Amino acid sequence: MTTHHKHRVSLGDLRSQRWFASEDIRGFAHRQRTQQMGLRREEFMGKPVIGILNTWSDASPCHAHLRDRAEAVKRGVWQAGGYPIELPALSVGEVMVKPTTMLYRNFLAMEAEELLRSHPIDGCVMLGGCDKSTPGLLMGAISMNIPAIYCPAGPMSNGRWRGQITGAGTHTKRYWNELQTGAISKDDWIDLESRMTRTNGTCNTMGTATTMTSIADAMGLCLTGASSIPASDSGHPRMASACGERAVAMVWEDLKPSDILSAASIRNALVTYMALGGSTNAAIHLIAMARRAGLSLTLDDMNAMAEKIPVLVNLFPSGSYLMEDFYFAGGLPALLRKLGDHLDGSAMTVEGRCLGEAISGSECYDDNIIRDLNNPVVPLEAGRTLVLLRGNLAPDGAIMKTSAADPQKLQHRGPALVFDSPAEMAAQINDPDLDITRDTVLVLRNSGPVGGPGMPEWGNLPIPNKLLKQGVTDLVRISDGRMSGTHYGTCVLHVSPESAVGGPLALLQTGDTVILDAHAGRLDVDLPMQELERRRQGWSRPVSPYTRSFTALYQRHVSQAHEGCDFDFLEGTDPVPEPSIY
Ligand code: FES
Ligand code: MG
Repeated sequence: MTTHHKHRVSLGDLRSQRWFASEDIRGFAHRQRTQQMGLRREEFMGKPVIGILNTWSDASPCHAHLRDRAEAVKRGVWQAGGYPIELPALSVGEVMVKPTTMLYRNFLAMEAEELLRSHPIDGCVMLGGCDKSTPGLLMGAISMNIPAIYCPAGPMSNGRWRGQITGAGTHTKRYWNELQTGAISKDDWIDLESRMTRTNGTCNTMGTATTMTSIADAMGLCLTGASSIPASDSGHPRMASACGERAVAMVWEDLKPSDILSAASIRNALVTYMALGGSTNAAIHLIAMARRAGLSLTLDDMNAMAEKIPVLVNLFPSGSYLMEDFYFAGGLPALLRKLGDHLDGSAMTVEGRCLGEAISGSECYDDNIIRDLNNPVVPLEAGRTLVLLRGNLAPDGAIMKTSAADPQKLQHRGPALVFDSPAEMAAQINDPDLDITRDTVLVLRNSGPVGGPGMPEWGNLPIPNKLLKQGVTDLVRISDGRMSGTHYGTCVLHVSPESAVGGPLALLQTGDTVILDAHAGRLDVDLPMQELERRRQGWSRPVSPYTRSFTALYQRHVSQAHEGCDFDFLEGTDPVPEPSIY
């Protein structure tokens, strides 16, 4: 078994000591101002400093317990002989932040990196979990490359309404559609508001939050299995305390993200992503994370893994259970163990031992919730976590999650109905005279990284009420935006290049015939090249109303979906010099 062999670091090597051990006037100020907070010299001198990046805020129910968890982390740090300092970071709470948290993922990544760089920090524990907080914090930590451990917020507990399971996101959409058809009443809908989400914590379905925390865990960036512990379980603060303790040891071992991330950990990320039936959002975040680490990863790599690994985790939206069930069934370690040789057990983890060793004692307690490879939730022929599409509508790729789509619609030919904005779509979608049938291909453009801006989760385009009343529950839908991982439907997403930068989606017109063949990996419009070229002559790039501040920076520097939507100046492994302390 592989273990981490790095020599132990001595106190004088720690970056914090440039602040605290310095004999000049600056050193005096750093010690004086720390004592100003009521700390004795003995309590912080000569100790590794552990930064706790906390994405708690009153605007994120998923992270509402993280103030308490930071205290648990501190307990672990103190007991291991470290000095903890907690620093607030942007919470990017999925529910409240508009137009989309994705616009701020890179902002959080920059914030995380710069908080670590500009402070006297030797190692860190990062508290996050709601969708973009995981890649944001991890991208920052990867670029800063000091010992770092991820402490996931944990999923909220299971929900029930009138005896029926309710999962965050998935059932919101389901009951919303039932409200439209009259299957539930307005009073029922109001009652649901207070019933669906019982505790703090991240979405309990296989949405982006659980997908990303589970993948981070499988990549060795969490204490192994930490991502499955429900937020309200007493094991959660115990895990947080253990993160604090372990972070101190990681500093002495000099165990950094660059020692953990490798081709093997990327492979493990992909195997896990597919077995989870994970969110399409992961396809963007994983590429961005890999590029930060200087590792290669493409949509083709993901597609190749998706062809091999079926959905094994029986959670909504691909399956029928919730995260608490997954935890009781053995959680992520049980899943990883079932992946057998597909997993590279030699990959390093924050525990200082390899993944194979970390999961060796794990067991599965419910083979229905965590399936065996020969008994998947969705057989590969019926649906996959990810299907990569290319064609004259998506030269650089588009993706869909066929495990959460209508199998009848995976090969489809139909007339396009194109909208330029969600507002335009909302104004017309329920017009009784709208020319739309169950064969229509609904298209939304200007929802990409530049066009959205921030590539909002608009891709689960609404099904018109008149079709819902006819019993239509799915349509082929196409956009250059994203979709919530908790949602289901035949939604082609992340079309690249996006329409706002001149991708072919910009040239599509209502009435054009669109051909989707998910089995063949194709997405095309039935038009000759010359016609698309003719239309391109008449196209001009939309004028952005964003001329200043973060959004202007974002639109100037963001890459396309297939490249991870990072900023061009943040990719790669070029070192940034340590700050001067004079
Ligand atoms: Fe935060 Fe779903 S809204 S995890
Ligand atoms: Mg989400």
